[in-house]
Amino acid sequence: MHSPFDLSKPIAIGSDHAGYDFKEQLISFLEGKGLPYTDFGTHTKDSVDYPDFAHPVASAVEKGEAAFGILLCGTANGVAITANKHQHIRAAICWGEEIAKVCREHNDANILCIPARFVSEGVAEKMLQIFMTTNFEGGRHLNRVNKIACA
Ligand code: RB5
Repeated sequence: MHSPFDLSKPIAIGSDHAGYDFKEQLISFLEGKGLPYTDFGTHTKDSVDYPDFAHPVASAVEKGEAAFGILLCGTANGVAITANKHQHIRAAICWGEEIAKVCREHNDANILCIPARFVSEGVAEKMLQIFMTTNFEGGRHLNRVNKIACA
């Protein structure tokens, strides 16, 4: 499988309680493909706070310890807002296949954020497949991405 990411590194994945079922399903998907991953939790459906899972996933991607990240919560807003506090993290909320493709092509997104309460598990799996196999287009999009970081 072609991927722009270094898939010899683990894929960092995390969720709150609202994203727990989807996280488990996506982990099965990764296992089916023989891809390494690090599960940062949560590990039950008990109510938790999404930053406790979004920060570790974002840190792993930021430090280059993970190939890329996957974050899930009910809306994806909480995990995306949290992850995007980290330098060089481009966490994209995706709710369909085309968005998952374009956030890679145009934004060089490095964390896929999935709103578990607003998409089906089938769409989540398809978005992950697209996200991890789509190249950044560079060019004019690179100029834009280079202007994102705050000094
Ligand atoms: C949890 O109820 C919910 O607030 C959370 O999953 C997320 O949607 C927050 O942004």
